[in-house]
Amino acid sequence: MNTIALHVNRRAVEVSAEPRTSLADFVRDKLDLTGTHLGCEHGVCGACTVLLDGVPARSCITYAVACEGADVTTIEGLDEDEVTTELRAAFTREHALQCGYCTPGMLVSARDLVLRLPDADERRIRVGLSGNLCRCTGYVGIVRAVQSVIEARRARNIAPQTDGGRTSLGPAGSGRATSDRSEPQPARQALAAASDRAAAGTIPDFTPATVLDQRFTLPHPPAKVFAMFDDIAGIAACLPGVSLTVPPKPERIEGVIRVRLGPIAASFEGAARVERDPATLSGCIVGIGTDQRSHSATQGEIRYRLVPLEGGTATAVELSIGYTLTGMLAQVGRPGLVRDLARRLVAEFAGNLDRHMSGAPSGQAAPAELSFWSLASDVLRARLARVLGRVFTGKGRAE
Ligand code: FES
Ligand code: FES
Repeated sequence: MNTIALHVNRRAVEVSAEPRTSLADFVRDKLDLTGTHLGCEHGVCGACTVLLDGVPARSCITYAVACEGADVTTIEGLDEDEVTTELRAAFTREHALQCGYCTPGMLVSARDLVLRLPDADERRIRVGLSGNLCRCTGYVGIVRAVQSVIEARRARNIAPQTDGGRTSLGPAGSGRATSDRSEPQPARQALAAASDRAAAGTIPDFTPATVLDQRFTLPHPPAKVFAMFDDIAGIAACLPGVSLTVPPKPERIEGVIRVRLGPIAASFEGAARVERDPATLSGCIVGIGTDQRSHSATQGEIRYRLVPLEGGTATAVELSIGYTLTGMLAQVGRPGLVRDLARRLVAEFAGNLDRHMSGAPSGQAAPAELSFWSLASDVLRARLARVLGRVFTGKGRAE
């Protein structure tokens, strides 16, 4: 075993590994950075592409020991990277992925092209991406996505970066990188500062990266629903995956939310601030949590407003759910799917709440873990049924 000291996604890492361990296995198995995928494992498909001292490199044919002192950036380290964010949006818009297996490597290579080649045409992009194989898409959407980002940046007069931001010459992993490794990225920095303040007792407001509006109705009068929202323990019991770690106070709660996404299990531990306004039957819960294992962090807020219905015998609950997520779990956030999941989650919460308020027997309690996999399966089943329905009724339309 050798102890290898390097920087991965701007974090100093010192981990031991066998001399034969590839960089891909090192980041996946030792650091849980599973966004780096393995396809061919002999340098052909590009699925394992990472940045090594700022240069795209095949991590499956790079020994981890050769990266002593180097700067490694995996797809997780590009969470808040401006170009990667633009590319992700373009990939979604242009349908540039299907199974998504090639996508992390494709994004790392595409980012390098966008930074270096402000005038690249379709042919140049195809040549530039020829080291990244995709078995699903036929490449048309991928090329269009990259081209659209290049054109949009050119229209905004963004100058290319000399050598695409490479930090050193010489062989990849030479350890001569000179970038300032201690400087955290803005979103991560904001989350870290908010985490410190939460630990100290204050939970700040924030501007969420994603906001979803949801609405559901309950067959109970607004005053009863508003009183229920004051029963924090009762509300937590209705939320899948949520449990309280200390007895709640009227203005502050501390707890855990457990999430499972396929093989990734995260346990966000944190605190939330509670505010209520009886005059307008509204309130908000603003929280922050971190998961040590997946190095993910989230800030979230739920703002609600109760609207009387049917002469005051029923209530519409209007929710605005906002969140910012960084780390491994942020990689799975395809907007359409997240919206569907949020809808499903809110429906489950509403059902639990109604049962709770109607005095339904326990046994209907929310599950101890929020399984995105089972929710996603339901969502995908529902989407498939919608598509098949359209096909058989001849009412097809693009979604
Ligand atoms: S897995 Fe590395 S190039 Fe295919
Ligand atoms: S989207 Fe499936 S391999 Fe590229």
